[in-house]
Amino acid sequence: MESNLLTGRVALVTGAGEGIGRASVLALVQHGARVVGCDVDEDALAETDRMANDLRPGSSRCIRGDVTSPLDIGAAVAFAVAEFGKLDVVHANAGVSQPASPAGDIPLNLWRRVLEVNLTGLFVTFQAAVPELVKSGNASFIATASGLGVVGAPGLAAYVASKHAVLGFVKSAALDYAPRGLRVNAVAPGMTDTPMLSSSTTPEIRSDMTASIPAGRFGKPSEIANVVVWLASELSSYVVGATIVADGGDSID
Ligand SMILES: NC(=O)c1ccc[n+]([C@@H]2O[C@H](COP(=O)([O-])OP(=O)(O)OC[C@H]3O[C@@H](n4cnc5c(N)ncnc54)[C@H](O)[C@@H]3O)[C@@H](O)[C@H]2O)c1
Repeated sequence: MESNLLTGRVALVTGAGEGIGRASVLALVQHGARVVGCDVDEDALAETDRMANDLRPGSSRCIRGDVTSPLDIGAAVAFAVAEFGKLDVVHANAGVSQPASPAGDIPLNLWRRVLEVNLTGLFVTFQAAVPELVKSGNASFIATASGLGVVGAPGLAAYVASKHAVLGFVKSAALDYAPRGLRVNAVAPGMTDTPMLSSSTTPEIRSDMTASIPAGRFGKPSEIANVVVWLASELSSYVVGATIVADGGDSID
């Protein structure tokens, strides 16, 4: 579905090469935004960019960048402003999972890596973008958290800790910046059919996981991207510091 809901808006999406990030770029473009995608995987990113420009010619640019690098993300923000004149929306989505392991057995370097990408990467993205977002005067910063940002999960202590921390950051930054016209919110996907999910599960585990979801299936990346579009738009103008859960009912008590 196409619309002009986001016409005139300029967005930056991290982790735009695959999965939810790619879907976010495509959905933002379909609703009229101009978008810069950023990812460490240049081939995947180029494919996202091609798909977006096929949908709306001239709507998409991309730049390689690692969210853990302030230099890279500073360059991505500068690139968005150079190409499209400003920045109104950031979808801070890049993230990594972890191999399942009891908390006490997680290697320290793996713990550090998961926190570095999922949490510090979010902070680095926020810090690089915030001067431009404040200039926009009507900006939206959207973090990809997770259903595992509010509950525990066996074997995933590093990932779960990182996503709980993402929500803490979102709530605090929302308070800091709401008076300056920047809304900070999170989307919390449940199990979503992306390369991350398929690489960390076997078909048997996937079938067990599906059975426990009230909706009876995994989410599609586009269903998470639609929440991002809403949070990026004026339709959510009074939504501040919120976590929008999109999980097929998986977290209903
Ligand atoms: N798939 C799910 O079930 C699910 C559920 C809840 C939350 N999430 C979250 O959604 C986000 C996207 O996940 P996905 O499932 O689309 O994953 P994915 O692995 O399919 O895609 C992630 C993208 O991020 C990129 N990336 C990784 N590290 C990066 C870095 N340091 N800098 C820039 N880009 C980097 C990867 O190259 C990849 O293109 C993540 O934050 C993840 O934690 C996913």
